[in-house]
Amino acid sequence: MSQVHVTRRYRFCAAHRLHTEQLSPEENWAAFGKCNNPNGHGHNYVVLVTVASGGAQDSCDLDRLDQVVNEKIVERFDHLDLNRDPAFAALTTTGENLVKVIWDILKPALPSDSLRKIGVIETRDNYFEYGGTA
Ligand code: NI
Repeated sequence: MSQVHVTRRYRFCAAHRLHTEQLSPEENWAAFGKCNNPNGHGHNYVVLVTVASGGAQDSCDLDRLDQVVNEKIVERFDHLDLNRDPAFAALTTTGENLVKVIWDILKPALPSDSLRKIGVIETRDNYFEYGGTA
């Protein structure tokens, strides 16, 4: 059976610093380079949310999707420091972790089994993608 997916694009701007307390300052610098800069830096993040279309998730539900993503992701992270968000208390704010954090927030907030994929564009050349575990 074919399945149509629809992807909506969202944006937020946020600061972060790649740093972990589990490493020494020198090891942090070796691991993360200039992204370990103590003053942090920012990105214009783009978040691509892909959901199954049809069934419980028809195009009318895109308004609902916008509501959920804006409330739970954009308003939560926009113009803030990701390192201070509780979701990253024990996680480095890498794109790999961010894309999974966004998945974990949205998955239970959307109609069951409608979420298919999260994409995060961090820089011109860095794109992260996550589609769950199963
Ligand atoms: Ni960065």
